[in-house]
Amino acid sequence: MAPAQFDLVVVANRLPVDLSLDEVGEPTWSRSPGGLVTALAPVMAKTEGAWVGWGGQPGLELDPFEVDGTELVPVPLSEDEVEHYYEGFANDTLWPLYHDVIASPAFHRHWWDAYQRVNRRFAEAAAAKAAPGATVWVHDYQLQLVPKFLRELRPDLRIGYFHHIPFPPLEIFAQLPWRLQVVEGLLGADLVGFQRGGDAANFVRVVRRLTDLTTRGQVVTLSKHGRVERHVRASSFPISIDSHAFDELARTPDVLKRSREIRKELGDPEVLLLGVDRLDYTKGIRHRLKAYGELLDDGRLSPQSTTFVQVASPSRENVGAYQQLRDDVELLVGRINGDHGQVGHAPVQYLHQSYPMEEMAALYLAADVMLVTALRDGMNLVAKEYVAARSDDRGALVLSEFTGAADELTGAILINPHDIDGMKDAITYAAHLDPREARKRMRRLRRRVLSHDVAAWSEQFLAVLTAVPNRQSHV
Ligand code: G6P
Repeated sequence: MAPAQFDLVVVANRLPVDLSLDEVGEPTWSRSPGGLVTALAPVMAKTEGAWVGWGGQPGLELDPFEVDGTELVPVPLSEDEVEHYYEGFANDTLWPLYHDVIASPAFHRHWWDAYQRVNRRFAEAAAAKAAPGATVWVHDYQLQLVPKFLRELRPDLRIGYFHHIPFPPLEIFAQLPWRLQVVEGLLGADLVGFQRGGDAANFVRVVRRLTDLTTRGQVVTLSKHGRVERHVRASSFPISIDSHAFDELARTPDVLKRSREIRKELGDPEVLLLGVDRLDYTKGIRHRLKAYGELLDDGRLSPQSTTFVQVASPSRENVGAYQQLRDDVELLVGRINGDHGQVGHAPVQYLHQSYPMEEMAALYLAADVMLVTALRDGMNLVAKEYVAARSDDRGALVLSEFTGAADELTGAILINPHDIDGMKDAITYAAHLDPREARKRMRRLRRRVLSHDVAAWSEQFLAVLTAVPNRQSHV
């Protein structure tokens, strides 16, 4: 029997589940918490599709299996590949390069070799699962070569690519020794989607300067022997969350009860500040702590009646820059608590852990001020989750202008996280925000977040992609 083929195939570095083997060597899985999983769950629930991705552990070779009507197709990565492709090229070359070189990107030719090899493997797995004329949706910076490899294998497919992180300006992108191959990889798609208009503009400018292709607005034309072969469209599609589901979750009696408990356990502070991030140097956690520490030093916030809860979920722990960041953050937290703490009260509650959605919703509801101070961020879904949780129209969002979310969330108190004094003023303002002003801002924020949810995001992307003429009829 021929293996099953699907009309929609999602290709992402991670599967929507984390895989492992139990004591007797049987595979087991648990839902992985990433944003993309939540983002695509509604689309996948509607279609019988396949999802090609890595199970999150080195060396696992498993057959495809079905979860909730979606065929999961595990792509194996060896230990060396995890080190060179995932930790190396994806997270120590591309990630810092695409985030304004906040950390220095490392350029290693053997990492690039692994990146190409693994991208080819993902493309082959997708090619094997796609039905004739199917739509394949490739995700994020780990897989930028997949569109090209896939098109070579299957010219009949409609290929979309969505870039979840920022796309840098030419002046930074040009540092990459393999810049042309990456651009050509992306141009294998029919539609290349970005979070912000600025990202799409950066990409088109990179195409214009690094290739001899013609561009018109956001459309790149590829030609062969003087004849138009096809067009590639670059556009922005700001991602969102399942806003209504989150709003409902945050209204459940258990979550409401838990949010009151949290405040009580923290000693009923007058002002509860909250940060929720992956422990990543792009998130501006150090800057945030510096501003908070100074506000306590200056006496503008009282260490007795203020608590700052920082949830920093463990991330990419084998990458040097992340290890350094953890040391820096923990030193700063220790210093602030040492200088300003009292028996039974620490002004910073630092949690290097991940929590289920219910606990996050309770934390959002408990917090008076949400601090999103990223130095650069493709979108930042935490900002949207905070807003979706606040059906009480209370709370204030302090938001970095360097996040994609800042383009949309105009009710937020916008800050430049490099400007420590400006950030201190904004935090003080947010902490003492007049309730009427807070309500006005939150209502505006909620209108936006609830009307632009992730289902609308994926529908819009797929609608534009599906409008691309299907080449199958020409072959
Ligand atoms: C960002 C990226 C995702 C990635 C996630 C978690 O949101 O855009 O592609 O999956 O971080 O990172 P990890 O390295 O654990 O997959």
